[in-house]
Amino acid sequence: MTQNGIGQQAGRAVVVGGGSGMGFAIADALLADGYEVVIVGRSAERLADAVRELGEGKVSAVQADVSDEEQVSRIFETVGTVDHVISTAADVAGTYGPIATFDFEHGRGFIETKLIGSMLLAKHARLTGNGSLTFVSGIAAYRPAAGGAMVASVNAALEGLARALAVELAPIRVNAVSPGWVTTGIWDRMPWDDKEQRLQAMAEKLPARRLGTPEDIAVVVVSLLKSAFVTGTVLHVDGGHRLA
Ligand SMILES: NC(=O)c1ccc[n+]([C@@H]2O[C@H](COP(=O)([O-])OP(=O)(O)OC[C@H]3O[C@@H](n4cnc5c(N)ncnc54)[C@H](OP(=O)(O)O)[C@@H]3O)[C@@H](O)[C@H]2O)c1
Repeated sequence: MTQNGIGQQAGRAVVVGGGSGMGFAIADALLADGYEVVIVGRSAERLADAVRELGEGKVSAVQADVSDEEQVSRIFETVGTVDHVISTAADVAGTYGPIATFDFEHGRGFIETKLIGSMLLAKHARLTGNGSLTFVSGIAAYRPAAGGAMVASVNAALEGLARALAVELAPIRVNAVSPGWVTTGIWDRMPWDDKEQRLQAMAEKLPARRLGTPEDIAVVVVSLLKSAFVTGTVLHVDGGHRLA
């Protein structure tokens, strides 16, 4: 263990989704703060690229699909006991669309990764008694868009899960961070042909007058890991989106 910025012992952290976007920024920030970090994701290639960028030998990776119970169990057989588990994992393929024509076979992956995956992590993670679990929900739970029923309901459910687990797993702390619109590759997977205009319009509308960056989310997640009296809560990192 090493000392972190505020004099507490930094620990070991697993970042599910650490191969890209917010998860990558969280892994990077944790490494800079002296944590030992393991990143998890499905794509071996994405993980290898992330390890190279974060620094070979500084971070390790486990390839696993968080929606599969056996694979989640194997993550913790491999890494053993850790202090913190953070999950940014979400598969948005087929997630957006009007309820009248929604294809549940295709769209179900979002529930399986983001909600069931988080439950599986809670079930199998071998956490120290003063450890924490952090989930990443999202603004859609508060400001849903038409066609976003799946995203809105899963994000809301994930926040309910964080509260329930904060009670059940205590004194392990369980929290959610709810981002607004953050510039990551996730937007490339939206069924939009006017992505840039939509992102620009949102940036102008927000009290922060810009979209979030993955680093905006990472700084809050790291502070949450160190905040030993915060549990069962949702931290909004959305540039004021709920007021816009
Ligand atoms: N970006 C935004 O504006 C925004 C706004 C609100 C909420 N959010 C939420 O923030 C979280 C992070 O999103 P992001 O923007 O950072 O997206 P991202 O770059 O696509 O990150 C998602 C990560 O999760 C991993 N993943 C997906 N399914 C997985 C599975 N079944 N098992 C293990 N890993 C899996 C992906 O890697 P593999 O594909 O290799 O597995 C990827 O590295 C998501 O929960 C998203 O819903 C994002």
